[in-house]
Amino acid sequence: MRQVVVARHPQGAPVETDFALVEARRPRAGAGEVLLATEWISIDPYLRPLLGGRYLVPPPGPGEPVPGSVLGRVVVSDDPRLPAGTRVVADARWAEYVAVPATRVRIVDPAIQPPSLALGALGLAGLTAWAGLRVLATPKPGDTVLVSAAAGAVGSVAGQLARLSGARAIGVVGSARKAAVAMDAFGYAACADHRAPDLAGQLAALAPEGIDVYFDNVGGPVLEAALSRLRRNARVVLCGLIDQYNAAVRPPGPNLGPVIAARATLTGLVVHDHLDRWAQMQRELLPRVADGSLRCLEHVVEGLDAAPRAFCAMLQGENVGKTVVRLPEAA
Ligand SMILES: NC(=O)c1ccc[n+]([C@@H]2O[C@H](COP(=O)([O-])OP(=O)(O)OC[C@H]3O[C@@H](n4cnc5c(N)ncnc54)[C@H](OP(=O)(O)O)[C@@H]3O)[C@@H](O)[C@H]2O)c1
Repeated sequence: MRQVVVARHPQGAPVETDFALVEARRPRAGAGEVLLATEWISIDPYLRPLLGGRYLVPPPGPGEPVPGSVLGRVVVSDDPRLPAGTRVVADARWAEYVAVPATRVRIVDPAIQPPSLALGALGLAGLTAWAGLRVLATPKPGDTVLVSAAAGAVGSVAGQLARLSGARAIGVVGSARKAAVAMDAFGYAACADHRAPDLAGQLAALAPEGIDVYFDNVGGPVLEAALSRLRRNARVVLCGLIDQYNAAVRPPGPNLGPVIAARATLTGLVVHDHLDRWAQMQRELLPRVADGSLRCLEHVVEGLDAAPRAFCAMLQGENVGKTVVRLPEAA
């Protein structure tokens, strides 16, 4: 089989040659494991800090496979709950076949169509957005909710959930083209462009009364600009720091004076703390995806060999919606 390995640890923005596609022996399912044929691979920003040694687990060394979530079909199993053909999601690696502990897979509800949504809006990305807005920040009708990386996997769900709670959702994106998609497909009332001048001024124009909830996916100058617009008692959900994932050294933090002035609350979000709410999230989101009131766009890339480029491109903002790689196994 084929798999993608680390060729060398990225310096700054990752490039395709930091990865290599290699032949490898197809793994065998050991005791308590199932063998999966990979159909889809999830492309996620956290891989960048992981490769830089700034994540919860140590980075794979050169020649070692790239870790990531996959959606695959069970091909070998002696677990009666997981017969051959069952579609599951697992934390694994960028490979055509993976062997994973049977206790660590999540069965994909056949009602999820297309199944790849189980890696995005109906998977960890959806749970992240849902936890941020339904558990941590809970916007009320009439609130103004700002979301950064607003057209991405997490942000696109967060913005829609804000709107569905009756709030006015405003996005921050990296281009005018994305702003148009974010408003058209995800229902943002307006979008600011973090690559255009004077982000704080743009936010002042788009949210003259200020921001009640900020769902932060990026940190850095976008966070700083958002903090300067907080209303009194604002809630900030700190979800991601993609602005600094390529940096070797931690940049200086934002000026937190406006947090004091606004009597605001900042809450860190780690999706893994909310895994016990998975069923609750799916009960709410699945019917909405089915009836079209929650739109899910995917940035689909074809073939395992395209995974490294897809990862580099996602960090540069080329995606709209969830980035996934489709392998030929996918039906
Ligand atoms: N806390 C948790 O448990 C948890 C779980 C999942 C994800 N996350 C975090 O959530 C964030 C979004 O993840 P995702 O999977 O949904 O990715 P995504 O939004 O689909 O893709 C990343 C997007 O980030 C934007 N971006 C990149 N560099 C930026 C910068 N310097 N300033 C502003 N925007 C920038 C780009 O969009 P633009 O074109 O709009 O710039 C890009 O499309 C990431 O920070 C990720 O680490 C956290």
